[in-house]
Amino acid sequence: MENSGTRSQHLAESPYLLDNASKEASARFVALSAAFDPGTIRHLEDLGVRPGWHCLEVGGGGGSIATWLAAHIAPAGYLVVTDIDPRFLEPMEISNTEVRLHNIATDPLPEAAFDLVHARLVLMHVPEREKALARMAAALRPGGWLIDEEIDISVYPDPALIPEEVLSKTFAAMLRIMGDRGVDHKFGRRLFGQLRALGLVDVAAEGRTFLWSSGTPGISLLRANYEQLHDAVIGAGYVTEQEFEQDLAGLDDPAFMMPSPVLWAAWGRRP
Ligand SMILES: C[S@@+](CC[C@H](N)C(=O)[O-])C[C@H]1O[C@@H](n2cnc3c(N)ncnc32)[C@H](O)[C@@H]1O
Repeated sequence: MENSGTRSQHLAESPYLLDNASKEASARFVALSAAFDPGTIRHLEDLGVRPGWHCLEVGGGGGSIATWLAAHIAPAGYLVVTDIDPRFLEPMEISNTEVRLHNIATDPLPEAAFDLVHARLVLMHVPEREKALARMAAALRPGGWLIDEEIDISVYPDPALIPEEVLSKTFAAMLRIMGDRGVDHKFGRRLFGQLRALGLVDVAAEGRTFLWSSGTPGISLLRANYEQLHDAVIGAGYVTEQEFEQDLAGLDDPAFMMPSPVLWAAWGRRP
């Protein structure tokens, strides 16, 4: 795989809203890692990641899963980790890891090259997600595993059911602005069928959801996303400045609670 294009070209061409150049990005990556790495690592262990494997991590972001993979396939294994903006990955400098500036929507991948291909919370943001998933499946060696993890916003806060749950206008505005940019908030739910349709075998899926309340990483994740989308949601007229400020402050309320969206992990093996 060669680096294709420059970072600024990739960012200009991509509709991705939560770009890694923002001041909120590092807080988002800390929160994503704290919220979701334990489950991701459990799945990777169950799939048998071991020394010597060749792995591909797509849209590696802050690099927490890339770091775990690199350590678990060392010394003979090899990891390629990609991103349209790999600024958080470049400082990793791990000997068995190659960081690639790469857009999964448009750039080619080597075929039949990897024992494992993983992505988390990337394809939901990519309008060409089905083509990208097919390319990721084609990058597997025979017997290799594809595992993708994506959101499914089917579980909403429901104050009618549980009065303490908060359904905020800013949360709805965030979903709306992301939808405008082609984000699929239910892609996680469709993964199982997509992997089967790609001809993978031993396909399975598991969803996990959390209660996000004061002090949990989910609150830090919401805060980073709200702050980064401030101009976009207010500019679009989806929420007023006053509502936004109130919802942002509400995240610090010790009484705040909401169920997280479901994060589906789906995996399958190339025959
Ligand atoms: C929400 S973050 C998730 C990061 C990491 N996978 C995790 O779960 O912690 C999405 C990441 O995907 C990257 N990304 C977005 N569109 C991409 C694309 N078309 N190709 C490759 N990476 C992309 C972003 O730059 C960002 O680093």
